[in-house]
Amino acid sequence: MKDQDLFWGPYRDSIELLGDAGPYDALPSPKKIKGQVRLEGSKLGFPPALKDKFKNPQYLYTGSVFELWSVEYRGKKMAVKIFHVKEEAYMTWNRALVASHLMLKLVGAQLEFENSKDMRHGMLFDDTGSKYIMDVYESNFADALPDEPLFMVLEHCGDENLQQFQQRHTEAGTWTPDLVVDIYVQLLEALAYLGRHPSHWVHHNLKPGNIMIKTLPGGQMEVRLVDLKSAVVFDDDDDRDDGHTGWRPQSYDIAASAAVLVELIMGVSLGHTLVHLGVQPHHLFQEFGVALKDTISFILDVREAREYTATATPFKADTLYRKVLTKAVDSLSNDASKRPTAKDMLSFIKKEQALDKLKKRNGPESNMDMDS
Ligand SMILES: Nc1ncnc2c1ncn2[C@@H]1O[C@H](COP(=O)(O)OP(=O)(O)O)[C@@H](O)[C@H]1O
Ligand SMILES: [Mg+2]
Repeated sequence: MKDQDLFWGPYRDSIELLGDAGPYDALPSPKKIKGQVRLEGSKLGFPPALKDKFKNPQYLYTGSVFELWSVEYRGKKMAVKIFHVKEEAYMTWNRALVASHLMLKLVGAQLEFENSKDMRHGMLFDDTGSKYIMDVYESNFADALPDEPLFMVLEHCGDENLQQFQQRHTEAGTWTPDLVVDIYVQLLEALAYLGRHPSHWVHHNLKPGNIMIKTLPGGQMEVRLVDLKSAVVFDDDDDRDDGHTGWRPQSYDIAASAAVLVELIMGVSLGHTLVHLGVQPHHLFQEFGVALKDTISFILDVREAREYTATATPFKADTLYRKVLTKAVDSLSNDASKRPTAKDMLSFIKKEQALDKLKKRNGPESNMDMDS
C-alpha cells in the first residue's frame, strides 16, 4: 500500500468523487477572534468516543479545522488535534469527502505529520538538535471508519506560543534582554539542526505563532517549532528563489528568524510580515539607536501586517543585544552572500557572550579586544 492510499483511508478508491464545495460551505463561520483563533473555550467539546482512549482532556486552542487539546495518553502528556468542520461538527471522512477544501486541510495535516517524522527521525546519528522540532505520535487517518472523528496525536509543545509568552512577560515586567537572547539562540539551534539534516529542511513559516515555549519538569524553557505543514526540502546547490518572496529557500528561515528577533526586541509583530512583503529593512536597523524611531514608524506604516500589535514598550538594548541585533539584520540583506547561516549566527553570539562575560569579570576599565 502506498502512502497516499493510507492517507485517503476508506476513500482510497473514490478520490475522483471530490467536489469543489459541499454542504458544509453553507454553515456560518464561527465568531473570529484574532484571525482564526478562539482562545476562551472549546465549542464542540472533546469527542465522547475518544474519552476512553485519552484521559483528562484540557482545551488549548481552536484553529480553522481543529481544536487542540492536551491529554494524558500512554502515561504522558500529549497534544491531540481533533479536526472539525467550522466548529459545527467533528471532521470525519464522510464529511471531508464532499468538500475538497476540507480534504486539502487534511492533506496539510498529513504533510505536517510526515514532515515531522523525517525532521525528527531522519538523521543517521542521534542529534540532540532534533528536540527543537515538534514530534508526532499517532493518527487515525488510515483506519478511521467513515463516521469516526479524525485526530492526530502530537508532542505537547507547551501551553504558550512565543507571541503569548512575550505578551505575558511584557505585562508582568519580566521581559529581559537575557530572555530574548536565550530564545533567539534556541531558535538558531533549531535552524542549524534543520540545516545539517540530510534533507536540508526549511520550516518556511517561521513566526512567533509557530514557535512554542515548552517548560520542562525541571523548569527549563525549551523552544519547539510547530506548524510543519509548509516545510520544504531543497537541493543544496539549487539557486532558484521560492517564487514568492524572491528568496532562495535556504535563506528564508534565517531571514524570518531575524524578523522574529526584531519583534522580540520591539514588541511589534512583524514576524514574517516584512519577509512576506519582500521588504528589505537592512538599512533601517544598521544603526539601531538612531534608526529605532524611523523603524517603528516604518513598521507602523505596514498596515497589511495582519497580526500587528504594538503591545510592548521597546526597551533599551544592552551592548551584547545590540551587537546580536545588528548582526542578525545581515540575515535580511539583499546580498545573499552577506546572509549568515544559523551556524554562523550561533558562533558569533557565543563569541560575543564569552567576551561579555570577560568584560564583566574584568570591570568596565578593562580594554580587552579579542578581535584585534
Ligand atoms: N504540538 C503542540 N503543542 C502545543 N500547542 C500547539 C501544538 N501545535 C500547535 N499548537 C498551538 O496551536 C496553534 C496553531 O497551530 P498550528 O499548527 O500553527 O496551526 P495553524 O497556524 O495552521 O492554525 C499554535 O500557535 C499553538 O499555540
Ligand atoms: Mg500556525
